[in-house]
Formats: sequence, structure tokens, C-alpha cells
Amino acid sequence: MTLVFATHNDHKVLELRQLLPPQIKLYSLTDIGFHEEIPETGNTLEANAKIKADFVKYKYGLDCFADDSGLEIEVLGGAPGVHSARYAGEQKDNEANINKVWQKLSGQSNSEACFKTLIFAHIHNQSYSFEGRVDGNIIRERKGEGGFGYDPIFVPKGYDKTFAELGESIKNQISHRAKATASLLSTLQHMIQ
Ligand code: IMP
Repeated sequence: MTLVFATHNDHKVLELRQLLPPQIKLYSLTDIGFHEEIPETGNTLEANAKIKADFVKYKYGLDCFADDSGLEIEVLGGAPGVHSARYAGEQKDNEANINKVWQKLSGQSNSEACFKTLIFAHIHNQSYSFEGRVDGNIIRERKGEGGFGYDPIFVPKGYDKTFAELGESIKNQISHRAKATASLLSTLQHMIQ
């Protein structure tokens, strides 16, 4: 089976390639000769994942999947959500994004939040959608050096450290991305048996 992961992020492709059974050959957008960004114009994580998967399906006719993730903060009505990467502007600046979260949360005592990942897939002419979610709280200082994005201010439920402090191996067991990926893998495993 051949699958395209509709991303240019080599790190994500490598991670998935290591998790997939050897019968499944995984290609990135670069591998299939597409070097531009697919515009993510949807209003939800699922819509954006679908836009990227649809693009590959209808332009190249290939089985594929795409993902989209974001941080949802309860008292902000789910913001930054689908706008997580560009919350403080087009420059996709993690520091500025975190500062904006703190500014929006000032005076609020509820700090509950979750990370979500949506994976949308087209496989053998069927469409699939998988969601992964991890609940936690936003803290008002940066802690830890690891990870990316909002990791230094997100403490997952059941832990007393941020994602940035917990490190990759623990994060990869409990994260939103890990859970959505596990659902995708389980569906793929059934298909190749
Ligand atoms: P993407 O869809 O995986 O590119 O994620 C979009 C944006 O959501 C990222 O640029 C980050 O700002 C945020 N985000 C998604 N996943 C994580 C995570 O695991 N840790 C911290 N921030 C994340």
C-alpha cells in the first residue's frame, strides 16, 4: 500500500514512517513533486485536514491523509484553535503566541485547555476522520526547553510538568497527535491484514 502524507514537515513524515508497518510506503508532498503550501482556509481543524487530503486525492488520485492540530482554551471559547500557529500574526512566532494567550487569559481563573489533532484520510475510495485530544491547563510562566509551540505553558492532566519539561518520549505516549495517529494506524493495520 502506498500513502501520501500531505505535509512538507520532514519531522512528521519520519515519525509516521517509523510507526507504520513496512507494507505501507509513505510519501510526503515533496516526494510526489509538490513544493508549494496548500492554503489552509478552513474554519476548523477537520476542514483544514480535509482540504489538504482532498488536494492530493483530486490532483494526484493518490490515497493520502493530512493532519491539523491546535490548542483550544476553554474560557476563550476554543481559541486559538485552528489559528494556533498564527495567533499573534503571520510570522508564526511561538513567543508572541504565548504572550497573546497570557494577555487574553489575564484576570481569568479557569486555565483549562486541550490540544487536538484531526487526521483526515482518503483510502481505497473511503474517507476517514480521526481525532486525538489531550486535556490540561495553561500556566502563567514558561517551563522547560523541549518541544515547540505552546509546549512550555501546557501541563497535561495527571502531570505536574509542562509538555516542554516532560520531553519527547512521554509526550509521544499521551499527546493529541499520538492518539490521532494511533487511530489511523489501527485502521491501516486492519486493511493490510
Ligand atoms: P500543526 O497543525 O501540527 O502544524 O499545528 C498547528 C499549530 O498548533 C502549531 O504551530 C502550534 O502553534 C500548535 N501546536 C500543535 N501541536 C502542538 C504541540 O504538540 N505542542 C505545542 N503546540 C502545538
